[in-house]
Amino acid sequence: MNQANQTIDSTTPPHLKHAKLAAWVAEIAALTEAKEVLWCDGSQAEADRLFAQMVASGSVIKLNPAKRPNSYLALSDPSDVARVEDRTYVCTAEPDDAGPNNNWEEPEKMKGILKGLFKGCMRGRTMYVIPFSMGPVGSPIAHIGVELSDSPYVVVNMRVMTRMGHAVLDALGTDGEFVPCVHSVGSPITADTPDVKWPCNPTKYICHFPETREIWSFGSGYGGNALLGKKCFALRIASVMARDEGWLAEHMLILGVESPEGDKSYIAAAFPSACGKTNFAMLIPPKSLGGWKITTVGDDIAWIKPGKDGRLYAINPEAGFFGVAPGTSEKTNFNAMATLKENIIFTNVALTDDGDVWWEGMTKVAPDHLIDWQGKDWTPEDGKAGRKAAHPNARFTAPAHQCPSIDADWENPAGVPISAFIFGGRRSTTVPLVFEAFNWNYGVYMAATLGSETTAAATGAQGIVRRDPFAMLPFCGYHMGDYFNHWLRIGHQVSQSPRIFTVNWFRQDADGNFMWPGFGENMRVLKWIVERCNGKANATQTALGWTPNFADLDWSGNDEITEEQFEQLTAVDVGAWQAELKLHGEWFSKLGQRMPRALSLKRELFELAMVD
Ligand code: OXD
Ligand code: MN
Repeated sequence: MNQANQTIDSTTPPHLKHAKLAAWVAEIAALTEAKEVLWCDGSQAEADRLFAQMVASGSVIKLNPAKRPNSYLALSDPSDVARVEDRTYVCTAEPDDAGPNNNWEEPEKMKGILKGLFKGCMRGRTMYVIPFSMGPVGSPIAHIGVELSDSPYVVVNMRVMTRMGHAVLDALGTDGEFVPCVHSVGSPITADTPDVKWPCNPTKYICHFPETREIWSFGSGYGGNALLGKKCFALRIASVMARDEGWLAEHMLILGVESPEGDKSYIAAAFPSACGKTNFAMLIPPKSLGGWKITTVGDDIAWIKPGKDGRLYAINPEAGFFGVAPGTSEKTNFNAMATLKENIIFTNVALTDDGDVWWEGMTKVAPDHLIDWQGKDWTPEDGKAGRKAAHPNARFTAPAHQCPSIDADWENPAGVPISAFIFGGRRSTTVPLVFEAFNWNYGVYMAATLGSETTAAATGAQGIVRRDPFAMLPFCGYHMGDYFNHWLRIGHQVSQSPRIFTVNWFRQDADGNFMWPGFGENMRVLKWIVERCNGKANATQTALGWTPNFADLDWSGNDEITEEQFEQLTAVDVGAWQAELKLHGEWFSKLGQRMPRALSLKRELFELAMVD
């Protein structure tokens, strides 16, 4: 590097004692030829400064402080609006260690490609050093990462989504472990290529090196591609750490259920994308149920470690919600809307004429005029013609502590004890409203075969069942067969393993109407689940597991569901299950040799049990 390109690093904290971290930062600054290095302290003043810079450069808009205090709107490049699964790689020495569930490349070859792409990629830009903790700093369940990024938008998002800044460096000390995460939007500023509002690169690589616990991401500034603490670290790399160290890193929300008597149980639940996970995490029970309360620990990811008492303890490794905005309203998720009142970063929603935000589903009637997510004028006429004002994957980045239902123990470093796991997909047929697995292994079977129907909005094809085991298919950093084995093992390592339930809020009648009202009414099912865990609720044995009878649920205040409808909702359709089990067999055979025999045998047992 010549003198003119010399990176300026004036912000290295004077007390930084971590030689390995300092050397790595210097190495990446030299590789990327960043104009300067800025070590983030995580302060409000720093965030204010970055927002002011981004407002000045036009890359974010400050919303009307009278409507939405301290909140901003970013509009992305139309080519950079979502996670890019086909550009996401797990690089292991042996292809089979990544498994058929991941794109694979040989680590040295991928490092070569990346070094080529990262060479000089931050020219003209600042490289931010973002030390972050996934989980409360110092929690025995938490782990630390450091992201190097040339995106100020990433810095301000990471500040909400993680614990970020000096406290993390202090926790690292002289030789603490951290996962190195390198990120660039891949858009150097030169005389010929001035900066743009949302820099990105048509070439994208989201790469994970589980054997060296590293993440390299190039070309995208959006969501899980760029906020590397989330899917890349907290799921793909952490799932490998969890396999090696005997814990679980899961794509699960965590909620607390409190009875009117004040008894508290915690539940972790996995749902594939687009199944209402955030709504479920913030559910408000019907008043008629008499004082039951739901509290929120997390809406997306759970890190779960065995405790000394033989129970599993979970933390939410994140500090914020990166939720899908469209469809969120006071009616569908009152608590989310209350969370969004201030201090929010919105991405790809629409801008109202009075400087606030709007998205499809927020209100019944759309405003007369908006600026849409692509910066164009929009009126309800455009909406009628099928043009969305907000991108369907538009997001809010919101501090979790602002959520009215946040659990008192959401930052407890010891985590919360998990009584039950719930797995649910979007299934119009076949899967009953709720049932409890006979035992741990049966529960793992149900999670391993979890499927969800695609919605027309996402794929253009309605009703195709995609297997999404444990809702982890895009997020498991190693072979899915080994992952199933890990789950089987964990259940037998702890003396008080949680019970496992399957739910399906999406069953339809012959006319295609949803049979279950969902939302707050899901509390009736949750109450039964918690009471099962506490030995207080009855159930009937079916071929699939334990199912409630109508009388086993609390129907106080219900005027929607009749006993006959409930029987349809919970019925086990033998013909449909015979077909379903064949599909399970096809799915298992895709996983090849590493598929645990315990699950293949369970499939055969189910087939034997599934007779008229
Ligand atoms: C998410 C997802 O964005 O699961 O959380 O896709
Ligand atoms: Mn998710």
